[in-house]
This record gives sequence, C-alpha cells and structure tokens, in this order.
Amino acid sequence: MKKREDCKLIRKQEIAKGIFDLTVASEDIANNTQCGQFLHINCGDSTFLRRPISICDAENGEVRFIFEVKGEGTKELAKKETGDFIDIFGPLGHGFEIPDNIKNPVIIGGGIGVFPLYKLAKELKNANVFLGFRNADRVVMEKEFENVSDMVIVGTDDGSYGYNGYIAAAMEHYLNNNECDMIYSCGPTPMLKAVKKIAEERGIKCQLSLEQRMGCGIGACLVCSCETNNEGSEKYAKVCTNGPVFYSEEVTLND
Ligand SMILES: Cc1cc2nc3c(=O)[nH]c(=O)nc-3n(C[C@H](O)[C@H](O)[C@H](O)COP(=O)(O)OP(=O)(O)OC[C@H]3O[C@@H](n4cnc5c(N)ncnc54)[C@H](O)[C@@H]3O)c2cc1C
Ligand code: FES
Repeated sequence: MKKREDCKLIRKQEIAKGIFDLTVASEDIANNTQCGQFLHINCGDSTFLRRPISICDAENGEVRFIFEVKGEGTKELAKKETGDFIDIFGPLGHGFEIPDNIKNPVIIGGGIGVFPLYKLAKELKNANVFLGFRNADRVVMEKEFENVSDMVIVGTDDGSYGYNGYIAAAMEHYLNNNECDMIYSCGPTPMLKAVKKIAEERGIKCQLSLEQRMGCGIGACLVCSCETNNEGSEKYAKVCTNGPVFYSEEVTLND
C-alpha cells in the first residue's frame, strides 16, 4: 500500500557526523513494509522533488530511516526536530526477496547502503554480514547488526577500523571457505560491481539494491532508469518501481 502521510518525528539522533537516525510514527507504513523498500520524503521548502531514503526498520507503529547529509534536501531534513511532522510517501519499490529455502545468506553493505540491510538482517536472523565504511569515523550500526546476525565483519577502506580494505574482498575470502546460497547487497556502484562479479563467478544468487537518482518515485518520469540484460522494450527498468532491488543477472551496472 502506498500513501502520503504527515508522520510525527518521535526520535532523532546524530549517530556520526552528518548521519541522522530518525524514527517517525506510522502504523500504515510499519505494517506494510517489505525490507529494502524506500520512503519518498518531502524534505522541506528548499527542494521541489522528494528525496528517496530507505526504510531501515519498521515495526510496532514506528518507522526508522537513517541518512547522510549530502545536499539541500538532506540538510533541510536534518533540521527537523522531534514533534515536527514529515511529509512521507511510501513504502515504495520492490524490496528484497527471502526465498523459503535460503540456509546461508550473506549480507554486504557499503556506506549509506548498510541502512536498508538492517531490517533484512533482522528478518533473516542468521545472516553473515559484511559492512564497509570509508574510515573509522563513518562506522555505524555495528552492534545492532551483531544483535540480529550470526557474524558481522566491519571493514574500512583506509584500515582505520576492522578489516583493512574493500569489504567485497573480505566477503570473497569468507566465500572461499564457507557455504552461501544468497548474497544481498546495497552500496556504492563499484562495490556492487565487485559483489556481482564474485557472486556470478561462484554461481551464487545475488540481490542488489541500486541507489539511482530519482524524480517522481512512482514510475512516471523515467529519471531512475537502469540498464537490464533484456532486449527490446524491457532493455531499461525503473529503479523506483521495478527495483530498487534486482537480481544481479537482471541488471548491467554502469558508472
Ligand atoms: C532507493 C534509494 C534509497 C536511498 N536510501 C538512502 C538512505 O537510506 N540513506 C541515505 O543517506 N541516502 C539514501 N539514498 C540517497 C539519497 O536519496 C540522496 O543522498 C539524497 O536524495 C540527496 O539529496 P540532497 O537534496 O541532500 O542532495 P542533492 O543536492 O540532490 O545531491 C547532493 C549530492 O548527492 C549526490 N546524489 C544525490 N542522489 C544520489 C543517489 N541516489 N545516489 C548517489 N548519489 C546521489 C548528487 O550527485 C550530489 O553530488 C537513497 C537513494 C535511493 C535511490
Ligand atoms: S523516479 Fe520517476 S520513474 Fe522512477
């Protein structure tokens, strides 16, 4: 179910410099969210278009999302205070699928891509999780993922915390010695490309959440098109409605 709602902000915390963790009240969104879906948020008067932000968690009438301040929209959203109302449209998009027969799931997220993976980790209950960040100052949600997962490896690109290097390499080492029947991933395109390659080389099914720039969020404007491996009229898909989550073999990842 998709609808627009003015949701009351009930919790707000800056969990790292410029990264804000917001929880709003909404029975409708909380009851109708599939992990991996997103909200289209009216950040305020300075931006005409809504901004897409993933649902990090949704239960008991509360919906949580976490975002990094990037430009005008997210800067304005970060100014909201508890008690304010936020104009939210959602939940939108096609999220992660959890087939019944999955035994050994792996989750890999990078940067702001870790946020939509938290609800997924909670639902899977037994995921082995890899989280990559630029440096120690950007590391967030490690404990929360640990509380809902079998194993969590955190890495930083500059080696200032945890595994030293790109997190896809840490996952690749793990896969050399461990079973895995589904990889779930969200993060920057270079990381998704590496994850797709590693999964496809090993014949492991893989779901990728793409973070394309968006306009309408409901399939009308084509701003969010991504290339697929289909031909003809299905050559391009809309990330907002066909995605943001796709199986790796469905999409071509362009820079
Ligand atoms: C499905 C989806 C889910 C998302 N979930 C989250 C989330 O949970 N947390 C979060 O922090 N961000 C998330 N994003 C990214 C977020 O939507 C953008 O950072 C935000 O729209 C930027 O808006 P702005 O007005 O602050 O910045 P703008 O002024 O619009 O842009 C500032 C800078 O950010 C870049 N940028 C804008 N949008 C994107 C994008 N989609 N991908 C990469 N770079 C972008 C621009 O190129 C520019 O350099 C998500 C994006 C999508 C498509
Ligand atoms: S954002 Fe308009 S079609 Fe996807």
